[in-house]
Amino acid sequence: MDYNPFSLVGKTILVTGASSGIGQETAIACSKLGARVIVTARNQERLQETFDQLETIDEGHMQLLADMTSQEDLEQLIASLPSLDGAVLCAGNSTTLPLQFGSRQKFDEMFDVNFFAPVELLRLMYKKKVLQKGASVVMIASIGGTHSFMPGNGVYGASKAALNSVMKYAAREYASRKIRVNSICPGMVDTPLIHRGTITEEQLAEDAKKYPLGRYGRPEDIANGAIYLLSDASSWLTGHDLVIDGGFSI
Ligand SMILES: NC(=O)c1ccc[n+]([C@@H]2O[C@H](COP(=O)([O-])OP(=O)(O)OC[C@H]3O[C@@H](n4cnc5c(N)ncnc54)[C@H](OP(=O)(O)O)[C@@H]3O)[C@@H](O)[C@H]2O)c1
Repeated sequence: MDYNPFSLVGKTILVTGASSGIGQETAIACSKLGARVIVTARNQERLQETFDQLETIDEGHMQLLADMTSQEDLEQLIASLPSLDGAVLCAGNSTTLPLQFGSRQKFDEMFDVNFFAPVELLRLMYKKKVLQKGASVVMIASIGGTHSFMPGNGVYGASKAALNSVMKYAAREYASRKIRVNSICPGMVDTPLIHRGTITEEQLAEDAKKYPLGRYGRPEDIANGAIYLLSDASSWLTGHDLVIDGGFSI
């Protein structure tokens, strides 16, 4: 039985932030569904770990190091990319930073990686025609962009809300080339990101109880959403922010 509307066979897909968490899981899942995957991040060792877990395909996957906040790196990345059928823009960061303890510099840093970097990459991929006709782009936003999901995440949330806004405009502008642009808004997902900050393990365990389905997300919960958006199963969907949050935002 060959029927699989979620197949990615024959597609070439870029995954940013592929050295950890959601991006790593998404890259591996894409390769398991037959895609040729281009993985990128800054940390060579961790990126290699992802690369080593990709399902082997004939054409061969690629890994490219790049700091998404460096214009030079972005342009080099664009120049090294083959033609793409899809991209998952996952690289990002978060800091729990109550407004009163913030500074303009810290806010800029958050926007640089979470907003300006993916928007600039999207712009260049379209302008330089790296994205083929019919390609699908998935931006990883957050329910932090629509809800006050945790205290101290105002600027993080704003960066993701801004990303969602650009996603909708890009979806409309790029539709003439049949390029689709959607986003995923995950609730809290158990990745290294949530264990790096100032929130204690006890606070995280308490917070997870607010999720109607009884747990935080796992990277594969988000990877599976990305697969849907990358695949032909979603070919009539664009400009949509897909909330995957275990019911948190009900
Ligand atoms: N985990 C959650 O609860 C959650 C919820 C909602 C949304 N999100 C979003 O999901 C995305 C992935 O998060 P995650 O939880 O998987 O976090 P993670 O495990 O910390 O992974 C973050 C990834 O982004 C890459 N990255 C960070 N800064 C970069 C830069 N300047 N240039 C290039 N790559 C960079 C990191 O790679 P290197 O360090 O190797 O560069 C890493 O691969 C983020 O955009 C995050 O905001 C996460």
